[in-house]
Amino acid sequence: MEAPTPHLLLFLLFAISSSLTTSTADDGAAMLALAKSFRPPPSDWSTTSSTDYCKWTGRSPLSELKTLTLQRNKLSGKIPSFAKLSSLQEIYLDENLFDGVEPGAFAGLTSLQILSISDNPNIAAWSFPSELVDSTSLTSVSLDNTTISGVLPDVFDSFASLQSLRLSYNNITGALPPSLAKSPVQNLWINNQESGLTGTIEVLSGMTSLSQAWLQKNQLTGPIPDLSKTNLFDLQLRDNQLTGIVSPSLLPLGSLKNITLDSNKFQGPLPLFPPEVAKVSAEHNTPTRSYSVNHQHKRGETLQLTNPQEMHTGL
Ligand SMILES: *[C@@H]1O[C@H](CO)[C@@H](O)[C@H](O)[C@H]1NC(C)=O
Ligand SMILES: *[C@@H]1O[C@H](CO)[C@@H](O)[C@H](O)[C@H]1NC(C)=O
Ligand SMILES: *[C@@H]1O[C@H](CO)[C@@H](O)[C@H](O)[C@H]1NC(C)=O
Repeated sequence: MEAPTPHLLLFLLFAISSSLTTSTADDGAAMLALAKSFRPPPSDWSTTSSTDYCKWTGRSPLSELKTLTLQRNKLSGKIPSFAKLSSLQEIYLDENLFDGVEPGAFAGLTSLQILSISDNPNIAAWSFPSELVDSTSLTSVSLDNTTISGVLPDVFDSFASLQSLRLSYNNITGALPPSLAKSPVQNLWINNQESGLTGTIEVLSGMTSLSQAWLQKNQLTGPIPDLSKTNLFDLQLRDNQLTGIVSPSLLPLGSLKNITLDSNKFQGPLPLFPPEVAKVSAEHNTPTRSYSVNHQHKRGETLQLTNPQEMHTGL
């Protein structure tokens, strides 16, 4: 049977969620359309009978749907709109073959806590869904490897409970949004952007809950700001354009366990890290001159300049 386009689903979802009196029959029809809009439909969902739809999700009716779990199903077509499903708390659509996202798909999701769509590399280029500002209870957003492009909207002060923000392996450009400083994010993964984030990493200095920051493989510039008020144990800065002297006093030495500084434009000696910092690497800084330093950091080791006469003053 030819699957209907997601437009039918969109229409039904919209019709249902915007009507004040939602009947169970309508929900059945909408669930049927939802099932049919996924190609192939989820294996335990019926596309011919809606009478048992409550069993598909363990919830009833659609307007009370709390969790949608459809990872690793080879689903294709567009991610349908979930707009206004105000009971929906968790959406898991990772590792499918979706080729697009309906505009505004996540608007009005006022109960949403977890949005996880990672590893959908066939989605036609789209932007970070700024309609998520409606979801003020978000705790976790995972959109790694989903072809997101463009600049991140400056909306992260809307999420008072956001702990995990995963956006690695996309094509996000521009600067880290200033509103990140007002978010309680602990795990920030925004490494390996295709063209690379630009601007400084100054915003990190205000992120007092930050414990893990993966920023490697971008085009970030400027010096390491004062990170001593963060809670970082894992700071990945390699493969950027960062400059200046790495001063240990800027780092959260009570919590820091591993740090990479390789392939930037840092200058001067590698600072003395206490033994609690187990993993340090800082190879290939300043491309016009070559430093040599053992991969395994030893206490007191310094970066060696091959052309010491080119050293900048203040080292
Ligand atoms: C992106 O997702 C695809 C599909 O799951 C996977 O094969 C690929 O390895 C992922 N890429 C990265 C960089 O994780
Ligand atoms: C990434 O974004 C840049 C800037 O918008 C664009 O020129 C480039 O084509 C994009 N790369 C991919 C793989 O989409
Ligand atoms: C840093 O260390 C933690 C454990 O201490 C580990 O889970 C994490 O993967 C490490 N990060 C890297 C990039 O090695």
